[in-house]
Amino acid sequence: MAPTVTRVIPAARTPEGDGMVVQRAFPNQSIARIDPFLMLDEMGPITFEPGARSGFPDHPHRGFETVTMLLDGEFEHKDSHGNRGRLRPGDVQWMTAGAGVVHSEMPSSDLRAKGGRLHGFQLWVNLPKADKMMRPRYQEIPASSIPEAKAPGAVVRVVAGDFHGTKAAIDTRTPIQYFHAQIEADAAVQFPVPAGHEGFVYVFHGSAAIAGKAVPAHNLAVLSGSGDLAVHAGGEGAHLLFVTGVPLREPVFQYGPFVMTTREEIVQAVEDFRAGKFGEIAATH
Ligand code: CO
Repeated sequence: MAPTVTRVIPAARTPEGDGMVVQRAFPNQSIARIDPFLMLDEMGPITFEPGARSGFPDHPHRGFETVTMLLDGEFEHKDSHGNRGRLRPGDVQWMTAGAGVVHSEMPSSDLRAKGGRLHGFQLWVNLPKADKMMRPRYQEIPASSIPEAKAPGAVVRVVAGDFHGTKAAIDTRTPIQYFHAQIEADAAVQFPVPAGHEGFVYVFHGSAAIAGKAVPAHNLAVLSGSGDLAVHAGGEGAHLLFVTGVPLREPVFQYGPFVMTTREEIVQAVEDFRAGKFGEIAATH
């Protein structure tokens, strides 16, 4: 059956972290998750005053992956395994938390000192039970290494998966497609939804008609079915994320930043975290 849009849901503005604002596409009152995806946040856009204190200070994750992509601004991240790095516009960090990390994700010291705009996305991807306790893994891909496909009136950045033969640099644990598309006014793009995938489109600039349904900016279109999905940009164009994956169909027990398959595993995660088994972020200065 050709893909259809079953629901169009507006993102909810939510305070998050320390002085940050996100537009949460899901979960919300009408949708708990889109298996294997647990959450999509649009971070900002927010403009910091010089000297603003903001970001996501030290916090743990276990049992899933966080995928962070910036469009504006700069993030500095550090974690309990000694990793540290910087995300700039267009860069993607695909972090497989696995057995556990403690990390911080903060606007860069430069951005905090001088002020400026921050805009980006964080997607949470669930891990299958067999991978939940794997060693943490980072894939940090600079914007220049994200493959780009060009279609008439559109540029599609292939973060994960395969867009009509353009293959991503990032490796995923289960089959996932993550495309960042910029479509000019009145242009159209066909997005492939493989058989057996669930997914969504999140429009964050302009508007689009997706399988004939009108989707305004900051709205989530939930997909059903497989085949080519027709996306027509409106008069201001459309910037969007197109994300699909094979559902895990496993139980989900979530307690904040721990996502496991049983209550016992959650209790264990909390105990391990309290016992310092996720490690700590080393102080450097
Ligand atoms: Co985090």
